[in-house]
Amino acid sequence: MKLSSTLEKAFNTQITLEFQASLVYRQLAIELEGMDLPGMAAWLRHQADEEIVHANKFIDHVSDRGNHPVIGAMEAPKGDADSVLEAFTTALEHERKVSESIRELYRAAEGEGDLDSRPLLNWFLQEQIEEESTVSEIVGRVEMINDDGPGLLRLDEELGARPTTTTEAR
Ligand code: FEO
Repeated sequence: MKLSSTLEKAFNTQITLEFQASLVYRQLAIELEGMDLPGMAAWLRHQADEEIVHANKFIDHVSDRGNHPVIGAMEAPKGDADSVLEAFTTALEHERKVSESIRELYRAAEGEGDLDSRPLLNWFLQEQIEEESTVSEIVGRVEMINDDGPGLLRLDEELGARPTTTTEAR
């Protein structure tokens, strides 16, 4: 069943927001690379790639429903950061924005009784809980480290060891 034109528009807004999230992470990865923290940069870059996977999941859904996915205009990413803490705080703020947007999408779909989008939106609600939790934990640890060089290097090594393939990327 086709999405209503209102839901089609809302899904397209979400597609754009996921691409925007990718740009934010990509810019933050560049900043961390500039701080000589290649492990954190790799983690953020991987996250940027995952956001493209998210955008594609929404594109596929809109297309499968017989609607027209459209990528909207994007702003330059606000990803400048003077510190590791600022970088991950920016990432967390953006994840919270994405979570709220998905909740709004869910409410809109429920309001129309659009059952077909439920499985996808449930997947995203769960994914956002995990994404926020992961980034929030990193922010907490960076706060604890508080600019201690060896602490930052340990975290850099740990985040750099993240596996480069994820189930949703396959
Ligand atoms: Fe696709 Fe990290 O939200």
